[in-house]
Amino acid sequence: MAGRIPEEILQTIRDRTSLVDLVSNYVNLKQTGRNHSGLCPFHDEKTPSFSVSDERGFFKCFGCGVGGNAFTFLMRIERIDFPEAVEQLAQRAGIALPERVEAGPVAKKRDTLVDLHESAERFYRKAWESPRGEAAREYLAGRGVSEETVEAFGIGFAPAGGNELTRWFGQQKVSRRAAVESGLLAERDGRVYDRFRGRIMFPIRDRRGRVIAFGGRALGDDQPKYLNSPETPIFTKGDGVYGVSEARKSIRDAGRVVLVEGYMDAVMLVQAGIPYTVATLGTALTTQQLRLVRGVGGEQVQVFFFFDGDTAGQKAALRAFGICAEAGVWGRPAFLPDGMDPDDYVREHGVEATLALLEKAPELLDFYFDETVPAGAALPERTRAAKEVKRVLARVSDQVQFDLLARRAAQRLGVSEMVFGRDERSPSVAAQSSSEAPPPELDVEWPVAEKMLLEAVALDANVARWVIEAEVVDKFVHAGLAAATSRLADAWDSGESLSGAVDDLPEEIANHLSGVLLASDDEEGPDPMRVAEDCVARICKRFESARRRLLVAELRRAERDGDVDSEKEVLRSLEEMKRREGDRL
Ligand code: UTP
Ligand code: MN
Repeated sequence: MAGRIPEEILQTIRDRTSLVDLVSNYVNLKQTGRNHSGLCPFHDEKTPSFSVSDERGFFKCFGCGVGGNAFTFLMRIERIDFPEAVEQLAQRAGIALPERVEAGPVAKKRDTLVDLHESAERFYRKAWESPRGEAAREYLAGRGVSEETVEAFGIGFAPAGGNELTRWFGQQKVSRRAAVESGLLAERDGRVYDRFRGRIMFPIRDRRGRVIAFGGRALGDDQPKYLNSPETPIFTKGDGVYGVSEARKSIRDAGRVVLVEGYMDAVMLVQAGIPYTVATLGTALTTQQLRLVRGVGGEQVQVFFFFDGDTAGQKAALRAFGICAEAGVWGRPAFLPDGMDPDDYVREHGVEATLALLEKAPELLDFYFDETVPAGAALPERTRAAKEVKRVLARVSDQVQFDLLARRAAQRLGVSEMVFGRDERSPSVAAQSSSEAPPPELDVEWPVAEKMLLEAVALDANVARWVIEAEVVDKFVHAGLAAATSRLADAWDSGESLSGAVDDLPEEIANHLSGVLLASDDEEGPDPMRVAEDCVARICKRFESARRRLLVAELRRAERDGDVDSEKEVLRSLEEMKRREGDRL
């Protein structure tokens, strides 16, 4: 949705929104110099450290560090997502969002398919409540599902007849092509009929709550036990997460999310009092699913998984490690007794015991290393493990995470970090992918020169242009700062609004920049260009010396192993470096 709102409209909304007016709905603000200040609504404080600049449209709390613009303020205080914040602010500013009017053919088709799914949901709900739904109601009641839960998830019933939904759509003059494309009706020998028959229907929603697919459970032993919607333009298997819209608020509030496999597992854990539970729909975990839950829960969200206690479950957990590494999301695996799923467990042992399993879940990282490298493993085993770890780490796109993992892995395996091929990685690639999937907050300090250069870019268009030309971002160590710096430099370069670019940045960085931009209102700082020159020199120097260290280490290894080819190549690179340094002097 956000992608469909053109930047000009966002800009108009920003221009017409007084941040001071908006914030004043929640905070008592006083004018202090060019800014306004008050008590921060995001943390408990007695003296005001919350500052708002109307002119620049930024706020910042110097106590808790939170900062941003009108959109981020509303998102945070109302716990809503970006499109919702845009809608609300557009409404306040009296700006009509062009959504449906300007929607392209693809968007229109998607809207039609979503409408069909929501119409089907109403139909299945009606059938559930009708006499035909009795067996379904009894079945779920027998499994302990309450009325409220059924309602909260919108669970319904698809009648067994085979043409009831077809008729319902017919009454509403739904086009046959659209109905078949939605996957809700199927076609055979030129005739259409209901895909789901005699099944309990679980609506699968996207994060905003729109129905995009269904899962239908057979009442008896019919096969398959669950029939799912086919892939359609609005539903890709492996992308969806069941229950994500229902659990959204709880995930944000708790700062955690529990991932289970089955529909019933999610429904029952939520009902039992673990409302931040969602399901992966029986497919193997995907990076898309992890990114989706992180998108909902925020950078800091803690992810828990439930796995079977048997060897298959352990294997699944090991596989999950690779997926987590790739998505840049860290999780904790909880293991259930053999042959029990979370639904069985919570029914037999209760919610306290289930939560206790989560509490004692290890870090997936530690679990992974414990499994791959048993304590006291001999060299051949460690070598095999190192190869395997190298394969997994090759999928980590974020430089900082890569370094962290490589270090941990090297310690565990008693090998050099070099084994994992860190030097083969291109920092620019790492920076790009991290802007699309920002890394979770890590306890890695921001390199000072990189941080200062980012600040200088935020403050000054000339610095931005120069930073692009000098291609210095490729030499950053911190992928998040690299991505942020190039994002802002591009914004200056293309004349896009800075505050829009700040919206795209990971929260921690956006918060920091809001403070920098606010502070710059009040005081004359040092000349950004001079600061930038100094930073660039430092970053380049560090980059070169790190490279030289790696090359020298590689040279030692090559000499030791009698690897003549590598030795020659490394020597050539070292020569080349020396020559370039000479040029510069
Ligand atoms: P399970 O067989 O473990 O089902 O499959 P379950 O969730 O425990 O179901 P109940 O408790 O018997 O009702 C786990 C998940 O795998 C997918 C579904 O998403 C299911 O919830 N699945 C399973 C299918 O898509 N099709 C199937 O035929 C079976
Ligand atoms: Mn089950």
